[in-house]
Amino acid sequence: MDRYGPYLREMGLVRWRFGSQHPDMAGLRSDRETLFRDEGANAGRLTALAREADRCERCELHRTRTKVVFGSGSLAVSWLFVGEAPGAEEDKQGLPFVGRAGALLRSMLISIGLSREDVYIANVLKCRPPSNRDPLGQEVRECSPFLHRQIDLVQPEIIVAMGRFAAQVLLDSNESLGQLRGRPHNFGETLIPLVVTYHPAYLLRSPTAKSNTWEDLLLARSVLA
Ligand code: URA
Repeated sequence: MDRYGPYLREMGLVRWRFGSQHPDMAGLRSDRETLFRDEGANAGRLTALAREADRCERCELHRTRTKVVFGSGSLAVSWLFVGEAPGAEEDKQGLPFVGRAGALLRSMLISIGLSREDVYIANVLKCRPPSNRDPLGQEVRECSPFLHRQIDLVQPEIIVAMGRFAAQVLLDSNESLGQLRGRPHNFGETLIPLVVTYHPAYLLRSPTAKSNTWEDLLLARSVLA
């Protein structure tokens, strides 16, 4: 049975069957196999950081949130995907990318041979802005230290910034998404490679950008390799 077909079709990838001879799909491997890190200590620190975020009242979003959405994934991964802020479903469940955008993110991952278990997923903001409005500068200033500490602990080998907002915050840049896409960047002082792509919510509105997104993900995979 073609398990991956529906996800690849979701990404507009209909020409090759997953695992076929197309060169871009060859040699996919589990990134877990290659990692040797002090995951135990960092896992404890990450749990402590998540508890701190749960209690956070640094900005007004704590008044309207249902749950803090800290992030999800294990430390034995190479990939970190970063979005903007939780939406309604994420706010209810306390998990990132579990709504419609999350379903498309899953297809994006499968299109490059990954599953949710192979990646860590986080957002710039840990609490939902009411009515999904754009994050405010003060909210970003108060919340982004959580993301920076999260990155220090997850120690990804590649970061994928999804959407203009995550890209500009992570790269401390005012450049547009169009200017930032298509070339690898480095994050902060650790110089972790970072690739910018479209946000899945944007792809739901503009499906023609899915092929560009796939190219971005292939770029990220080649940077990682
Ligand atoms: N959009 C985001 O940026 N993050 C989520 O977790 C869900 C939707």
